[in-house]
This record gives sequence, C-alpha cells and structure tokens, in this order.
Amino acid sequence: MNAIDTVAAPHAAGLGDENSIWFKLTALHKGDHENPMRILMQMAERYGPVITVNMANQRVVLLTEPDDFKYVLVTKADDYIKYFDGLKPIFGKSMITNDGALWQKIRMPQQPAFHPDMFVEYVPYFLAAIKTKMALWDNLAKSGETFEMVEQTWTLAADMICKALFDRDMPFNPHFVFKCVKTYTDVMNHKSIRLKKVAGEEFEITEEDAAKAMEIWAGVPRQVFAADPREDRERTLLKMIEAVVADPDVPEFDQAQAIDELKQYLWAGTETTALTLAWALYETSRNPEAAERIRREGQEVYGDREPTAADYSALAYTRAVVQETMRLYPPIWGLIRVASKPDVISGKEIKPGDRVVLFAYGAHHNPKFWDEPEAFRPERWMAGAAKKQVKYSYLPFGGGKRSCIGGAMSQVENTLALSLLLRRFRPEYVGPNPAGINATVTLTPKGGLHFKIRELG
Ligand code: HEM
Repeated sequence: MNAIDTVAAPHAAGLGDENSIWFKLTALHKGDHENPMRILMQMAERYGPVITVNMANQRVVLLTEPDDFKYVLVTKADDYIKYFDGLKPIFGKSMITNDGALWQKIRMPQQPAFHPDMFVEYVPYFLAAIKTKMALWDNLAKSGETFEMVEQTWTLAADMICKALFDRDMPFNPHFVFKCVKTYTDVMNHKSIRLKKVAGEEFEITEEDAAKAMEIWAGVPRQVFAADPREDRERTLLKMIEAVVADPDVPEFDQAQAIDELKQYLWAGTETTALTLAWALYETSRNPEAAERIRREGQEVYGDREPTAADYSALAYTRAVVQETMRLYPPIWGLIRVASKPDVISGKEIKPGDRVVLFAYGAHHNPKFWDEPEAFRPERWMAGAAKKQVKYSYLPFGGGKRSCIGGAMSQVENTLALSLLLRRFRPEYVGPNPAGINATVTLTPKGGLHFKIRELG
C-alpha cells in the first residue's frame, strides 16, 4: 500500500480525525515538548477549577477539582455519557463505549470474572506468563541489547489476560499486534502524516499503517475464540461471554458483541497495565533503593517458592510502588464525557455536547492533595502514612459505576510481575532523563522507554 492510499483509507480518519479531542489536544505538545500535562496544570492554576476552551467549534471543559469529578462520575453520571470518537475501530461497540441500560446488560454477566475471589484461580496463569517473559529476558540479558519496555510489558499483559481470562495461549504474535495498534492510536503520528502530506513532503509508511493496523486488530478476537483451550477450565471470562451469547434472554449480546468485548479486554486490559509496569520499572531503575526494598520484600514474603494470591496482600511495599506509579503516570490521564443536558458545574454553564475532561493527572500532581507531588514516594501508600487522602483526588481507575472492571486484578498482575522480575533482573533505564511524555488516549512515554537488563547473580 502506498502512502496516499493509506491516508485516504477510511480507518485512517479515526483517531487522527481533527474532530477527536486527542487530536485537538496535540496543540499542547507545541508548548511543552517534554510534558504537555504541565500546560494543562498551568491553565488550571491560572483559570480555576472549570476551564472552557473553544477548539474548532467544539467546547472542551476541563475539570480539575475532586468534588467536580465526583459530581460528573457519581452524582450526575447518567447525564455525562461516554466519549469514544476515533476509537471505534479499537473497541467496536463493546461495553466500555456504551451507556444506560444496554451498558448494564453487557457488564452484568461479565462482572463475576473480576470478583477478587477469582484472583486465586488466576494467579498461576499470571505466573506462567511472567515465567515466559523471564525466559525471554534471560536472552536479552545475555545479548546485552537495548529494548523498548512498553512493548515488553504489553506482551506480558496480553499473555496474562489470554491465559487467565480466556484459557488460551496467545494465538497471535503480540509484538506485531502491539505495533499495529500503536500505529493507530499514536495520534501524534497521524498528525505528522497529515502535515507532511499537506506540505507535499515525502513520507514513508510501511504496512504498519493505521488502516492495515485495524484490519489486523479486527482479526485478533477471532483467533482467540478459535484457539485451543489450554485446560478447558469452566470458570473463565470467555466461557461467561459464550454463555450470554447463547442466552435468548439477552439478544443484544450476540456473537459480534462477544468479538468486540474481546477487543476491549485485549486493549483496555493490556495497554494500561503495561504502561503502569513499564513506568514502575523506570522509576525503580532511577530509585535503586526502591528496587532493593522490593527484592527484600519478595525474599521475606515468599522466598524461593512461587508467590500465591495470599502473598499479594503481604507485598505491601511492592503494591505501594504500583500505586505511586499510577499516581505519577495515570495511564488514563483524563476521563472524557459528553454532556447530554444543560448543567452548571462550580458556577460555570455546561452545554449539551460539551466535551468534559476530568483531568486526573492534574489532581494526582496537585500540591493541595499530595506532599511533594512530583517526588516518587511509595511510602505515602503504606499503612500509617501521614497524610489522609482527599476523596477523588486519586482516580487511576475512574470512579462511580463506570470505574474500571479490572483495576483490582491489574494490581495483582503488576505487583507479582514487578516483584518477580526485579528479584531476577536489574533493569537499567538508558533513555533521556527524565523521559518525555505523550498524552494521547493514554499517557505514554515519548519514543518509548529504553532499557538494558542484567541478570542478578
Ligand atoms: C493499570 C491498569 C488499568 C488502568 C489504569 C485502567 C483504567 C481504567 C479507567 C480510568 C477506566 C474508566 C474510564 C472512564 O471512566 O472513562 C477503565 C475502564 C475499564 N477498564 Fe480498565 N484499567 C486498567 C486495567 C484494566 C484491566 C486489567 C481490564 C480487564 C482485563 C480493564 C478493563 C476495563 C473495562 C472493560 C472498562 C470499562 C468499564 C465500563 O465501562 O463499565 N482495565 N479502566
């Protein structure tokens, strides 16, 4: 496919579409190349808790106060609907994109798969995926090569989901699929392609272009359904999904819905988990005393045997590192809703159609709520920490009824992965210091996080 075909392809209009909020916000990258979040924070400081910005005939309302987050997510949750412009090819019509009664009908039958009681069953499969990753890291340690960490942690997160929730080994090449979807979700890339096209410049696009990427992505759930079960377990998310498809009382949940639900899990449940683990490895590489404390804690809690679900609660410091990482680098830096009714928030008028951005990153970095907000201090999450948290000042998993279905599970995944990986390896971050940030749908490291690793003796 040549470059022009790519730009003209219908899918390429998605996230790169100038109507998408993420595309509009790329303007902020011009102001601060290293961290576009700082501009939003300065705006919040200067203009107060509710900031309205007109962007190409579209009103964007930025909220920065926890009370207003609660108002939108809980008090008036039904009046502020989900926003997914440009992301339909990634998520299809899955639960995450729906509202009201239909959303509830889709979420209810899947909810039991995420009950904490299920984690005991999932842990062996998380461990199997982590062991596969460790075998690959052995080779990376031996070769001494530099590698990109988010790609590594994404392939791990995808393997954990496939094994634990679907009872499948990954039936696709995770590195290839990761690169494909990244090509699509990287709105900065879309913008530069368009600008180059307008300027008549030459630009090179391989098959990993946006349109092709989405074709490949669309095929992934079918591969999962078609793959042989690992163990034919009865209680898996995949089995729950198959059961609703067969249930005549829920006609809305058909085979097409099932395919889209898988798409959703394979992205919403992997990208965010992977970013958290990658940023945690970055911070522990910059803070070797934290890495040492994680190693000591692992030694004390499970020593030379395999960790179990029961050990998870005893890994308090490792878990605190994961929590602190999500405070500093919330994978979903802003929760976005569309106002469906006229309203007033903190004295400012809200009009139907307004795009309302709940600026989670801003609250996570606000000195009103956190001592030394820019410092990496996992201790603040430990029992007996001095400062009491202000409600809704920390929302890595959102809030209210639309909060993340897999948040608690992701903490188990990441705590175990961080503990085991650091006990065996010493990852060394070799990229620019500090790493730059791109704020598209998720908060991603600019140009990736590059590492070398050594195996510990
Ligand atoms: C560190 C890991 C994770 C983070 C930071 C995260 C973050 C979030 C956030 C902020 C939301 C709410 C978005 C909104 O209100 O607009 C959300 C929703 C969701 N997440 Fe997660 N997530 C993580 C892991 C997972 C995992 C492991 C799964 C499943 C395997 C998952 C599946 C979902 C789904 C299905 C929704 C939509 C729920 C609904 O609309 O009812 N997430 N996530």
